[in-house]
Amino acid sequence: MSSVSRRHFLGTGAAAAAGLSLGSAGRLEASSAAPAWQASRPAVIASANGLRGVARAYEMLTKGADPLDAAIAGVNIQELDPEDQSVGLGGLPNADGVVQLDASCMHGPTRRAGAVASLEGIATPSLVAKAVMDYTDHILLVGPGAKQFALAMGFKEQNLLTEKSRQDWLRWKARISPDDNWLDHDDDVTIKFSTGTINMNAVTSSGDIASVTTTSGLSWKIPGRVGDSPIIGAGQYCDNGVGAAGSTGRGEANIKVCGAFLTVEGMRRGLTPQQACLATLERVVAMTERRLLGDNGRPRFDLNFYAIAKDGSYGGASIYSGGRFAVADAKGARLEDSVFLFKREERPRR
Ligand code: GLY
Repeated sequence: MSSVSRRHFLGTGAAAAAGLSLGSAGRLEASSAAPAWQASRPAVIASANGLRGVARAYEMLTKGADPLDAAIAGVNIQELDPEDQSVGLGGLPNADGVVQLDASCMHGPTRRAGAVASLEGIATPSLVAKAVMDYTDHILLVGPGAKQFALAMGFKEQNLLTEKSRQDWLRWKARISPDDNWLDHDDDVTIKFSTGTINMNAVTSSGDIASVTTTSGLSWKIPGRVGDSPIIGAGQYCDNGVGAAGSTGRGEANIKVCGAFLTVEGMRRGLTPQQACLATLERVVAMTERRLLGDNGRPRFDLNFYAIAKDGSYGGASIYSGGRFAVADAKGARLEDSVFLFKREERPRR
């Protein structure tokens, strides 16, 4: 962590408020001042775009649904919503204008996992990931093979590029260079940029756990680029004895620390979900290459983690302030503020 002042790092974020302190080895440790969680089950946590999804998943859990079926039904809402440009139908495309989707899932009770990457033409990659888990001896299928598998499983192919996302792609393409042959076609200089994703993690009333993450990935990506979402242990991870975690934001930063796995391991060591998310983000910052650090030594990107423990306690954390997450439990479905490492002074570039 050479370019970040550790004192500033802890002092400006919510680490202290979350009950974290520096141990003798200079690492974040849980302190006895950690907040008392009023945990209840069932419970569901997701990225903020999962507010409708956690409500649906929670309702299913109260009726005895399997935790993965409930979580996937929750993320399906966003996958099928053409207005959510971070996932599924309507997701922002790659540099060639093609929507390529990634997803993964884990089912705690049976210790199984499934994933797909660079999947084209199928709006619900979360369900294809589950089909990989349910019907094959493999864990990850990619590209044309993933699509061929999905079609064989009865999924219907459709054009995922909505008119809105096509217009955003054209706007991005026209503005890449003033010297190419594409003319800027309007005065709107706002180019959308997304690493948006939906992650959802669910715990049943009896303590069974599941996790799922699904995304259209980085907008305008090099065709074939795969982010963290379909990587088991990065985009999401679930251990039925401990809890589940997942992430949204810059996938490249997450993959390097196996962030979802690391967060679940933090909970296994006794950290609360919130503390575990923050400790993982500390590792992300420490692993950030110099070219991605601003003059203030802080990452020029954001990353978010969401975690839930077997007892139903939960937490969310982001590198920068302003993040929120969706949760549903006995108190209903709502958005809560994520804790953070750094107060946002200006919007990170990505
Ligand atoms: N976290 C989504 C991505 O980077 O693809």
